[in-house]
Amino acid sequence: QRRRPVSDERPVTLPTRRDPRCPFAPPPELERQRAARPLARLAFPDGHAGWLVTGYDLARAILADPRFSARPELRHSPLARPNVRPGGHDRPPAPGWFPSMDPPGHTRYRRLLTGQFTVRRMRRLEPSVTEIVADRLDAMAAAGPPADLVAAFALPVPSLVICELLGVPYADHAFFEAQTLVIVDMDHDEARAMSAMGALSGYLGDLVRRKRAEPADDLLGDLIADGDLTDEELANIALLLLVAGHETTANMLSLGVYALLRHPDQLAALRADATLTDNAVEELMRYLTIVHLGVPSRAALEDVEIGGSVIRAGETVVVGLPAVNRDPGRFPDPGTLRLDRAGAGRHLAFGHGVHQCLGQLLARMELRIGFRALFERFPALRLAVPAQEVPLRENALVYGAWRLPVTW
Ligand code: HEM
Repeated sequence: QRRRPVSDERPVTLPTRRDPRCPFAPPPELERQRAARPLARLAFPDGHAGWLVTGYDLARAILADPRFSARPELRHSPLARPNVRPGGHDRPPAPGWFPSMDPPGHTRYRRLLTGQFTVRRMRRLEPSVTEIVADRLDAMAAAGPPADLVAAFALPVPSLVICELLGVPYADHAFFEAQTLVIVDMDHDEARAMSAMGALSGYLGDLVRRKRAEPADDLLGDLIADGDLTDEELANIALLLLVAGHETTANMLSLGVYALLRHPDQLAALRADATLTDNAVEELMRYLTIVHLGVPSRAALEDVEIGGSVIRAGETVVVGLPAVNRDPGRFPDPGTLRLDRAGAGRHLAFGHGVHQCLGQLLARMELRIGFRALFERFPALRLAVPAQEVPLRENALVYGAWRLPVTW
């Protein structure tokens, strides 16, 4: 049945606070919106009237549709502080910053990088990831309980892995982790976030120039050897991979552990059956959906009739991933964490379409190895504070826990 045009509808603003009754659930308004109108008008802070998608099928359709653009200069930000990027959030994308490009510009970079993230490449990296995880667990055991799982395990593991893959010195981790936090924590203003972006760009620009002079056997070395990319493109690609490569996975690791500790039956099932691990990772990705604040968003390049409405050329569409991944039409009983859920892997927590996460095989491997090894090594792992005292990253682009105090 066709719905009447919704131009007369009162727009909602983007709900950002998670459900106070459950730290893993999306904002309740987002879920209500999906039930009422999976494609609804959204009011943006700059006065733009765009759209919010909360239904699964609509989200997939829009993310796969070339009539929607990822270019920043065409999009409005649904957040009070825009998500910053090199060169600014309201200009054409900086060279190499392909998440903000459409095909064919996007395709060129994506092709260059896909070869670095293949199944074969990831298999070769697996022993290093296993070793990095084991080393961190040894250090945690040696320091003795209690520990902050974020600082002791969840953050260093993906940081070490992405450093090894890219060829970035891990000795500089305190610097790049701190700058990344300023970029993704929306409590910092735009000027500070842009200056953190600038500091990281400068650092990676220097690194690229050093690597050009002394060829290295790592991802940046390979990209340099391919020969086609300028230093600016290389530095921006390095910045993208460094930031995307550690923040997201770190939060999935810590929030995943927090969720499992709060679902002891599920944790017991995982411990009892190692073959459950792959599916458990997918279900945790779905259940937690950590990319939660205004990403992904796209701008319509032409009028698009979809879901009984017309999205006009120039209007911005925001996909509310946490609500999408709890659409009961796709995931029955979506609010329940079920590690053996059939079809859990259909979640859109890695996005969908041409911009679907480049690092997803790597992230999955780190999560699989990380969860297994942690719970094997510390069978008595538990929270060291009352559950409601775990500080959560409500106002960060990537959701998670600021700290996760544990003991064993
Ligand atoms: C894109 C989530 C890990 C690199 C994306 C997108 C999402 C996402 C939702 C799509 C954004 C959009 O469509 O606008 C995640 C999550 C991760 C994770 C939840 C961990 C659990 C990683 C890792 C890397 C990475 C480990 C790199 C090593 C990228 C890149 C893109 C991307 C480069 C842009 C792809 C493109 O535009 O073609 N990620 N990601 N991600 N991710 Fe991830």
